Amino acid sequence: MRRALRFVIALVVGLAMLAGIASVIVQNTARTWFEKDIVLRSQLVLNGARREAVSILKQDDRAALRELLVEITQDERIIAAAACSKDGQPLAATDDYPTNLACADIVKSYIEGDSSFGKPWTAIRDVLGVDVHVTALPVTLGDDLGAVVTLLHDMSFIERREAKTRYFLFGTFALLAFCAAVVTMLAARLSWRSWNQEISRLLNGVLGGKDREEASPEFQPLLKHVREFAARIAEQEGEGDGRWTNERLKQTLRKHLEGEKVIIVANREPYIHEMKDGKVTVLHPASGLVTALEPVMRACSGVWVAHGSGSADRQTADRQARLRVPPGEESYWLRRVWLSKEEETGYYYGFSNEGLWPLCHVAHARPTFRSSDWKQYVTVNKKFAETVCQEADSDEPIVLVQDYHFALAPQMIRERLPRATILSFWHIPWPNAERFGICPWRDEVLQGMLGSSIVGFHTQQHCNNFIDSVDHYLEARIDRERFAVVQQRQQTMIKPYPISIEWPNHWVKSAAPPADCKAAVFAELGLKPNALLGVGVDRLDYTKGVEERLSSVERLLERFPSFRGRFSFVQLAAPSRTVIDLYRELNENVEKLAARINERFGHGDYRPIILLRAHHEPPTVFRYYRAADVCYVSSLHDGMNLVAKEFVAAREDERGVLVLSHFTGAARELTEALIVNPYDLDEASSALASALMMPPQEQQDRMRSMRAIVSEFNVYRWAGRMLIDAARLRRRHRLTGRLSERITSEEIAS
Ligand code: F6P
Repeated sequence: MRRALRFVIALVVGLAMLAGIASVIVQNTARTWFEKDIVLRSQLVLNGARREAVSILKQDDRAALRELLVEITQDERIIAAAACSKDGQPLAATDDYPTNLACADIVKSYIEGDSSFGKPWTAIRDVLGVDVHVTALPVTLGDDLGAVVTLLHDMSFIERREAKTRYFLFGTFALLAFCAAVVTMLAARLSWRSWNQEISRLLNGVLGGKDREEASPEFQPLLKHVREFAARIAEQEGEGDGRWTNERLKQTLRKHLEGEKVIIVANREPYIHEMKDGKVTVLHPASGLVTALEPVMRACSGVWVAHGSGSADRQTADRQARLRVPPGEESYWLRRVWLSKEEETGYYYGFSNEGLWPLCHVAHARPTFRSSDWKQYVTVNKKFAETVCQEADSDEPIVLVQDYHFALAPQMIRERLPRATILSFWHIPWPNAERFGICPWRDEVLQGMLGSSIVGFHTQQHCNNFIDSVDHYLEARIDRERFAVVQQRQQTMIKPYPISIEWPNHWVKSAAPPADCKAAVFAELGLKPNALLGVGVDRLDYTKGVEERLSSVERLLERFPSFRGRFSFVQLAAPSRTVIDLYRELNENVEKLAARINERFGHGDYRPIILLRAHHEPPTVFRYYRAADVCYVSSLHDGMNLVAKEFVAAREDERGVLVLSHFTGAARELTEALIVNPYDLDEASSALASALMMPPQEQQDRMRSMRAIVSEFNVYRWAGRMLIDAARLRRRHRLTGRLSERITSEEIAS
């Protein structure tokens, strides 16, 4: 319909232009005709009076001449007349004859013009601001020019007729445009309806499994695409219908991977043991990676290999650095890897977080690459790869390598366990090839990752960037059809797997009802019952746009004074990577900014910004999600962002509004959030205002739709799709392995 509308608009504009051109042509032609008509009339009038004029001229009777002229002007369009002698002297004129049309000028023009053979001389003159048509005609006495008679014609009738023609023309074109528009819209509507019916029939047929659904020739290509698409989805989903759950994930593992143990390699451990006041406490780190993978491990069991970073980690693990987790619900192993101070500094703070992290995020921080960091990065990747090999209890384990900390580990594992199925998932964005080229060890990083069977990213864009980087910097064959990189006999598939959270969420299950959460949070923060609350939850990282977020709140209060004294924004900010200067500066800047905004808009007990700079355990975070009117995720660049999805999961009451940065992977899925550019403070503050004023019904509609998305596209589906792809690859490798073994043995035998 939109196309039809566009066509109609183009048609109307085209017809209007055509009407304009036609009107100019018609007007010019008509004017020439009218002018010729005037001259002809003048000649006729004078011819009628010629005999009398000749006799009057012969008698030189000026009074009679004047009377004759007055008689001539009885014609309704002749407004004045004059007679001049051949030497330019006035002989007689009617009363209305204008003084500025002097006989001398007229006779001179007549004689100089090509009028000597009795032809009239014509001109258009301005008389008192009105155009008047002048015709000068000769009256001859024998061979001699007796006088020149000038007749002035009123031209207003021409203008009147022109105007009428114009109206008529435009009217006709407008009618034409209207009829054409109506016919087009009707035709579009009718064909749209029949297209719809035909497409629904075909889709129902394909989705209902009818392979041989008949389609008219114009629908054949579409039907082909739909079939391919349906086949691809069916392939991705594997067997089984309905929602992905932890149970379905377990079954998938049993069915497709013979219950093979899963080994996860991730820098961050899911449970950190800290010594606090002489007591050991367990922390759940603020990490999207942990949020996503922990439920997967609960479902799959197996081993999670991670850096043991807590102060009580050694004393809570056994001699092999292993322990069963989660505490109290033990279902998988956590294998800790101990790192020296130098290793942690070079590998984690250095190469990973001062090099790769800023390299991959468009957040205006310069990457720093040091050879000493790279050395530690290689060492630690080796250490983790060795640990994985120790943990593997077959020669073809399933290894899930997580994130930018372990770009080299896949190749290192592959060298020791060539038959392993290695899935790498990069939790952050992948930059374009030029930017990636900044990394001095770009080839090694790419080569290391290509040890994987599958490399996963959150979005297709990041997959494209990765493929382009390989294409730019390595000798490899790119199979664009399958989206794979082939080197010698090793093939690595590059695929998007948008990560998510568990659903149903166990933190939500154990949370108090939203009204109780609200009461508790309002009491904690000392807010009035009618206050409005916004929440932000992040590690204090410059990619999260915390400064932009607080500035948007400031802008909101500047632009919408009604929120002053009423709206507070609470930022739960977990300090992160504080060994790095940039993070320390960010901490200070955020603190100063919050203080400045509070100074500017706060009064009495009211603080617009409540900055809670500490690690918060998930039950607290979920309490805040459930208490807030709005949650603002303002990342400047983010692979996915699971805070957005957690907020949606927390809102069982279908209330609350999510304001979400356009630069997160989540913005592609949660389209019912208010999507903003966090750099544009006006846009972000307007979105905050809209969120705070949004009617409950609209909140519910938006939240319900986002909850449907997150519940369906949950983390079990994410893991399930990767594991099914892995199983498919394994089967293919086994088959091709057997085939090549057979060929080799036949070759030897012959
Ligand atoms: O987003 C990348 C990532 O590694 C996440 O997977 C994780 O949520 C976050 O950074 C945490 O970082 P760190 O482990 O350095 O605290």
